Amino acid sequence: MDIRALGYLRIETADLAAWRTYVLDVLGMTEGRGSTDSRLLVRIDDRVHRFQFVAGTRDRLLAAGFEVANAKALAQAARELEAAGVAVEHGDDATLADRRVQGLIHCEDPGGNPLEIYWGQAQDHGPLAAPYGNRFVTGDLGLGHVVLPAPDTETTLGFYEDLLGFQLRDSMRLPPAAVPTGAPGKDVHRMYFLSPNGRHHSLGLYPGALPPGIVHFMVELESLDDVGYCLDRMHAAGIPIASTLGRHSNDRMVSFYAQAPGGFQVEYGWDGLVVDPATWTAKEITADSFWGHQWSG
Ligand code: FE2
Repeated sequence: MDIRALGYLRIETADLAAWRTYVLDVLGMTEGRGSTDSRLLVRIDDRVHRFQFVAGTRDRLLAAGFEVANAKALAQAARELEAAGVAVEHGDDATLADRRVQGLIHCEDPGGNPLEIYWGQAQDHGPLAAPYGNRFVTGDLGLGHVVLPAPDTETTLGFYEDLLGFQLRDSMRLPPAAVPTGAPGKDVHRMYFLSPNGRHHSLGLYPGALPPGIVHFMVELESLDDVGYCLDRMHAAGIPIASTLGRHSNDRMVSFYAQAPGGFQVEYGWDGLVVDPATWTAKEITADSFWGHQWSG
C-alpha cells in the first residue's frame, strides 16, 4: 500500500466555540470556506481544510485521514485491506463532497481507531491569511503527526508496518506504571513512531487507552518565533501548558504541548527531522527529550 501522508484530522467536539477560539485565535490557523455553526473547517496550507471540527455530544477523533496518490492507489489499498480481513467501507457521494476528495474508504486499525484513506483533495488557491504571519510545514510531509491510543500495541504496529507500509522510525520503552490503561500483564510497554514519508513520524502509537481516541496532534511551524509567539498567546489566553518548551530526542522537534478543548493536547513545534527512508534504521530512544519538555500534572 502506498500511503503518502497524514492528510487531515476530523474531530467531534461538544464545544465547537472553544475549538474555534483555540485554533483561530491561539494556534494561528485559518477558517476554511464552507464552515458553519456546526462545522469548523480549518486551513493551514493550500488544502481546502486539514482539520474538520464537527459539533456533537462529546470530544473524540472521528477520523485520521491518510492520503494516497490517485484512484488506482486507493483501489489497491482497499484490495489489500480486504485481503487482510479488514472491513472496508467505501465513501458515498455525500462523504466525498464533505471531505472535498475524489475517492475515500473507511476502515479501523486493530485498536479501533477510525481511519479514512483518500485521494484527490481539493485545493484552495486563495491566499492563506495566517493571523500572525505564521507558516506551517506541510507539503509532502503531510499536516503534522497524530498520536493514537493502541493498547494492543504490537498488533496495531503490525497493521501500520505490514499493511499500510509505514516505516518504523523508533520506539521508547515505558514502565507499566507510566501506562495505567495499558494492556495488563506486560513487563514493559513501548511507544512506537512511524511514517509513510520523510517526516520522522506522522503517527505515534501510545500503548494505552484514552477516551477521546487521540493523545495529541502536532503541527510544525517554519520558525522558532512562530512557536514562541504562540506560547505567549497560550499564556495570555490562560490555556494550561501541558509540557514546557523542549527538544525531542527522536524527531528533534523543538515544541511545547498545550491542553486543548476536549481532554487531549496539541503539540506546536519547529525544526522537525526529515529522514531518508532508504537509509533509515529503527532505533530505541531512552528519553523523550534532550532538554525541556517538563510535564505538568
Ligand atoms: Fe508529538
